[in-house]
Amino acid sequence: MKESYMPAQFPQARLRRLRRTSSLRDIVRETSLRPEHLIYPIFVEEGADDFVPIEGMPGQYRIPESQLAEEVKRLSALGLKGIMPFGISHHKDADGSDAMDENGLVSRMVRIIKAADPEMVVVPDICFCEYTTHGHCGILKGDTVDNDLTIRNLGVQAVAAARAGADIIAPSAAQDGQVATIRAALDEAGFEDIPIMAYSTKLASALYGPFREAAGTELQGDRKTYQMDPMNRREALRESLADEAEGADFLMVKPALAYLDIMADIRRNSLLPLVAYQVSGEYAMIRLAAQQGVIDEAAVIRETLGSMRRAGADLIMTYFAPQLLEEGL
Ligand code: PBG
Ligand code: ZN
Repeated sequence: MKESYMPAQFPQARLRRLRRTSSLRDIVRETSLRPEHLIYPIFVEEGADDFVPIEGMPGQYRIPESQLAEEVKRLSALGLKGIMPFGISHHKDADGSDAMDENGLVSRMVRIIKAADPEMVVVPDICFCEYTTHGHCGILKGDTVDNDLTIRNLGVQAVAAARAGADIIAPSAAQDGQVATIRAALDEAGFEDIPIMAYSTKLASALYGPFREAAGTELQGDRKTYQMDPMNRREALRESLADEAEGADFLMVKPALAYLDIMADIRRNSLLPLVAYQVSGEYAMIRLAAQQGVIDEAAVIRETLGSMRRAGADLIMTYFAPQLLEEGL
């Protein structure tokens, strides 16, 4: 704003003038929410026959792998543009090797979704925690994840997912150097045009609670040696800028609502598309409060997603995506 700018004062200025009618409010609205802004995270269980409700996330289900194609067609018909599949594995081992297998669950989910709707943008989450017996995001050494061994395996998993037809690779293991290593692996395998959506600023958050039930991860302990401390604002920016320097094509803040300051910081310091992940605990807080009749769910969803867009997010991962598309944005 120019130094000389002097805002008019009451009574010449009356902010209520632009709020008088619904149409006036529409034409001065600064922030939009459109179907193409939404990516829907889904849970897919291998070897299951039925949809299983996720207790901590009322309204969300584990989709049986055998019914994934049908479910994708239903979601496409709603106008959904992007899907992030998470697997519920019954083939876990110490290293999470199923996630690297070209016939493993990660690759199969990608192939099924692309076959059901080739236009759907498929963004597989690239990590090991759903595929390891210990529930950590990589190879365990002692009681923590070995960074350098894990990033090598993340590269293998990313190439398998790209071969299966992934449109975007989204590594969430929160290891140092994972973006650079995955970029190199993809390039070497001929996937130089497949972008990386980095979970670039990923907090060690208590808001992932319901997800861990949903995804069937059996984590003992916590992820504080690799996911970052929620109390650190400068480090949060540093995390995202590091991933940009390593070749990320998208940056992300996760969780979203408690970290809007960080989203705004990244927006001011990077030109990359930015993603906000409204995580399972955020979904549960809204859904459960609405079920108790204490908040207006539709309004709160729009208000929270609007805050993320205002803070600078281009895209939003949200479990509310189908509901928003059904109700109309
Ligand atoms: C796996 C992963 C997690 C989430 C997305 N990818 C769990 C975790 O980091 O513990 C959380 C998503 C949510 O809570 O909705 N690395
Ligand atoms: Zn993980």
